[in-house]
Amino acid sequence: MEGCQPILNTGLRGFKVATTRVGDVDGTAGRLIYRGYLVQDLAGKVSFEEVVYLLLYERLPQKTELENFNEQLVSERSVPPGLIAALETIPKDALPMDVLQAATALLAHYDPDTREHSPEAAFRMGIKLIAKLPTIVAAWDRIRNNKKPLDPDPELSHAANFLYMLNGTIPDNELAGFFDTCLVLHAEHSFNASTFSARQVASTRAHMYSAVAAGVGSLSGELHGGANTRVMEMLLNIGSVDKVEAYVNNLLDTGGVIMGLGHAVYKTDDPRAHILAPMSKKMGERIGEPKWYEMSKILEKKGKEAFKERKGRDIFVNVDFYSASLYYYMGISVDLFTPIFAIARISGWAAHVIEEQFGGAASKPVLYRPDSEYIGEYCGPEECTFVPMDAR
Ligand SMILES: CC(C)(COP(=O)(O)OP(=O)(O)OC[C@H]1O[C@@H](n2cnc3c(N)ncnc32)[C@H](O)[C@@H]1OP(=O)(O)O)[C@@H](O)C(=O)NCCC(=O)NCCS
Repeated sequence: MEGCQPILNTGLRGFKVATTRVGDVDGTAGRLIYRGYLVQDLAGKVSFEEVVYLLLYERLPQKTELENFNEQLVSERSVPPGLIAALETIPKDALPMDVLQAATALLAHYDPDTREHSPEAAFRMGIKLIAKLPTIVAAWDRIRNNKKPLDPDPELSHAANFLYMLNGTIPDNELAGFFDTCLVLHAEHSFNASTFSARQVASTRAHMYSAVAAGVGSLSGELHGGANTRVMEMLLNIGSVDKVEAYVNNLLDTGGVIMGLGHAVYKTDDPRAHILAPMSKKMGERIGEPKWYEMSKILEKKGKEAFKERKGRDIFVNVDFYSASLYYYMGISVDLFTPIFAIARISGWAAHVIEEQFGGAASKPVLYRPDSEYIGEYCGPEECTFVPMDAR
């Protein structure tokens, strides 16, 4: 190992790898920005469809622009029957994120836009994926539960239509509104792992479906989007408010990780958590089961205290912490929490892929190709001498 450089396992923390106009996270101030707007100024005030328009077209739409855009999204909600037939062949216990990733790649076979490398084709593919991913997630949940997938309802909003396709009942305004806000809050988050994955694939000039399939795979991991599922599993595992403190202490003393706490960028609470928490509280009251919200509150407090005691520094709550109990209150299966993250984040991925490939002044299209420090055998000036099989 003589002559080798120290290991550079930085996870790219703090490195700026590109310029972007799509969004920004100021981890110190706890600010999340979509195209110049603070997320808390958008959440609850604009629909997910408006946010998608903002992310794709760099400004909020006028009324008629939004109406036309809605029509476009609605007209793209259906998926090819061949795709549904393919989903029906998948083992029923497959992981929903794996199904979503495979279905994203399968969708490419049906779209001639994959053969055209142009901004127009990239926008069309992005819009198709934004419209179709909810249909795939809902269809898969019904197929694995031996139910027939439902056709999208063109009269319903993006959020309400997803809940309808999932459950077979039209949600009331409060429920649809909360879900819509969840989609808004998860739409974009600058160069997080899955967006970087999507952009990295897009930098090779691979098409939108390839880039998004990579994003879905990246999001599935429990240190990224998969954390919301893990938070709910943790709450179910703890079971009651009185067991939270002992659980937290034991977890940290045995080297475990409290899901939903900590972040690679935020050095304060994630602003989205403060919007999700009151919605979780409200949903708990609405269905007369405040326990999961109350446990989350105590878990946040005890988790922060126990972490500080052990590490001598603060840890903060992230987006996945309160979305878990909120989705659970909405009656959504725990293993669908991360696919739901994906049906929101597809809007950010699409905007980033378009910027990566055709960003003009915002980003110089370039093939990502980082370097690594080789620390294997003979990392110095000499190479291994090759020895043929019978002489080894
Ligand atoms: C997101 C995450 C991977 C960021 O990791 P990171 O950038 O390495 O975090 P930091 O540099 O701030 O902290 C690293 C240290 O804190 C610990 N730490 C970070 N988050 C922790 C958590 N939630 N529970 C317990 N310990 C945690 C790490 O184990 C590490 O300890 P060490 O220094 O003794 O090795 C990490 O906080 C985590 O695993 N959180 C839980 C999963 C989660 O919620 N992910 C969704 C993120 S939106």
